[in-house]
Amino acid sequence: MIEELESVEWILAPMDGVTDYPYRNAWMEVFGAYSRMRKAVSPFVSLVPGARVRLSLLKDLFPENNRMEVEPQFLGNEAGYFLPMAEALHSMGYSTLDWNLGCPVRNVARKQRGSGLLPHPDRIASFLEKVLPSSPVALSVKLRLGYASDSEIYPVMDVLNAFPLAYVAVHPRIGLQLYGGKADWDKFERILPVMRHPCVYSGDIDSVETALVFARRFPSVRRVMLGRAVIANPFLPCYLSGFHFTEKEQTRLFARFLAALFRNYRDSGLSGATVLQRQKLFWSKFAGRFVPESAFERIKHFTEEGEYLCFCRETFGEEWPEGMC
Ligand SMILES: Cc1cc2nc3c(=O)[nH]c(=O)nc-3n(C[C@H](O)[C@H](O)[C@H](O)COP(=O)(O)O)c2cc1C
Repeated sequence: MIEELESVEWILAPMDGVTDYPYRNAWMEVFGAYSRMRKAVSPFVSLVPGARVRLSLLKDLFPENNRMEVEPQFLGNEAGYFLPMAEALHSMGYSTLDWNLGCPVRNVARKQRGSGLLPHPDRIASFLEKVLPSSPVALSVKLRLGYASDSEIYPVMDVLNAFPLAYVAVHPRIGLQLYGGKADWDKFERILPVMRHPCVYSGDIDSVETALVFARRFPSVRRVMLGRAVIANPFLPCYLSGFHFTEKEQTRLFARFLAALFRNYRDSGLSGATVLQRQKLFWSKFAGRFVPESAFERIKHFTEEGEYLCFCRETFGEEWPEGMC
């Protein structure tokens, strides 16, 4: 029953190119009141050389841009680049940063970044030894089970256990899998007893039913990230928090969400073409559930924002907010 999920904290997973601040704010504005999902980990920001970090790199994390509580994530392996980033984010008010040890992208992993660091526990240890003593912020880690093999996780866990960390978030796939196959709960179960830090879980929680099965099997894991399933169904964190909607309410909220997504991306300063591109990406995830496939086929070909907005007005009628077309 849904009460079994009351003690679970839902966290919006970092998704590069998707869960940036216009998305997070739109979600929070429309669904925040109907959900216990209050926090997000940001998509990664890469560590960069230099004694100071260009502030424009951190626009996604400017406090004034964020309505949702957010923990910044960074990607990289250069201890020398960490402090300027940590100081810049600390001065913006952040107290914990998350280290990305999960990114599976081949070009990233090849440079021993993201999941490409998992076969090198000595490098992970050396990074933490160098950065933690002078870091103005606490660190958490988000990782996969390994890059090429899930046995890589054990030496990595031994290293992480030796350092003070806020938590370790586990996405139980290996890097080479990318997003194929299923998140491996058996392997996840085996590493829980060897983890000393609080555990956050990430991977394939896509319905209330799956969340219940997970929560029953892993009663000690009370923080769970939601990723692709929220993008496809932004109501999911509401259902997981025990909220229900009539069809009419659902259509109204969904139309408000689409309008907020459009407005936030436009106001973030992206070009008109990119704003439209982003709406198409979201519609591709919604097609077949919240919007008919045929509607997505039509918007795919739009090249003008005006065309898109008028189409939304036609599709959602009076549910489409005034003044948006
Ligand atoms: C398009 C995309 C971008 C992602 N970007 C990041 C990222 O920047 N940092 C990170 O730690 N994980 C990233 N992930 C992984 C997710 O945070 C999450 O761990 C993974 O999608 C599994 O969870 P899910 O099944 O709930 O989506 C990304 C995943 C996708 C699909």
